[in-house]
Amino acid sequence: MFLCNLRSVTTQSRGIFIAFEGGDGAGKSTQAARLAEALESLGHTVLRTREPGGTPIGEKLRSLVLDHGHGTIDARTEALMFAASRAAHAHQVIRPALAEGAVVITDRYIDSSVAYQGAGRGLGTAEVRGLNEWATENLEPDLTVLLDVHPEDGRERRTAGNTGEDRLESEPDDFHSRIRHAFLELAAARPASYLVLPANDPVEVLAGRILERVRLLLESPVTGGRP
Ligand SMILES: Nc1ncnc2c1ncn2[C@@H]1O[C@H](COP(=O)(O)OP(=O)(O)OP(=O)(O)O)[C@@H](O)[C@H]1O
Ligand SMILES: [Mg+2]
Repeated sequence: MFLCNLRSVTTQSRGIFIAFEGGDGAGKSTQAARLAEALESLGHTVLRTREPGGTPIGEKLRSLVLDHGHGTIDARTEALMFAASRAAHAHQVIRPALAEGAVVITDRYIDSSVAYQGAGRGLGTAEVRGLNEWATENLEPDLTVLLDVHPEDGRERRTAGNTGEDRLESEPDDFHSRIRHAFLELAAARPASYLVLPANDPVEVLAGRILERVRLLLESPVTGGRP
């Protein structure tokens, strides 16, 4: 079961919501952990979580949708399972933590569905975005960190880890290439809300750039509320 760290020391009046996105093996989990550690050592309350998952029902959906051996899962069923997991995550975990002033760091969020099911599976990016806006009641990250990985590099990193590939990871490189371009298009459409970094930069360099951007966000004045 994935661990969610909710630490004390609340200094912010309104939480900050950060999503890590990118292809399989891009370094999302590595950088999410680094950022959480850095922010905690600065005294921030941090909730680190992931998708699909983050709640008991979400973790069950995660294994149903990602593990092999559940028979055919058609693209619409897959999209709805991810959206169901995300609805639980947004309402049961993310919104309450933000309301308490935490920095919420999620490993994947709506953009992953738009890229994997919308572009990768061909369901349409606008349709999948709409489904997920409904599921989360329009809860959007304040910042999305996109780690841009070439499909071949991501596959090399995953297979080096030798943990076996899940249902989506084991899709061919052209599927991962569609996903990569969909992520980049999402970032290009709203550049102020994204930090796009090359996944091949060294871990330390990436961690430094991400922390620098997040500190700016934490220092910026609070504007408006959440939907
Ligand atoms: N900047 C980097 N340079 C080289 N290797 C890296 C870098 N970041 C992470 N790695 C390595 O690449 C592998 C995948 O990293 P990580 O698990 O963080 O990626 P991920 O995006 O979370 O993957 P997944 O999509 O499978 O969850 C790990 O072995 C990790 O040590
Ligand atoms: Mg990961």
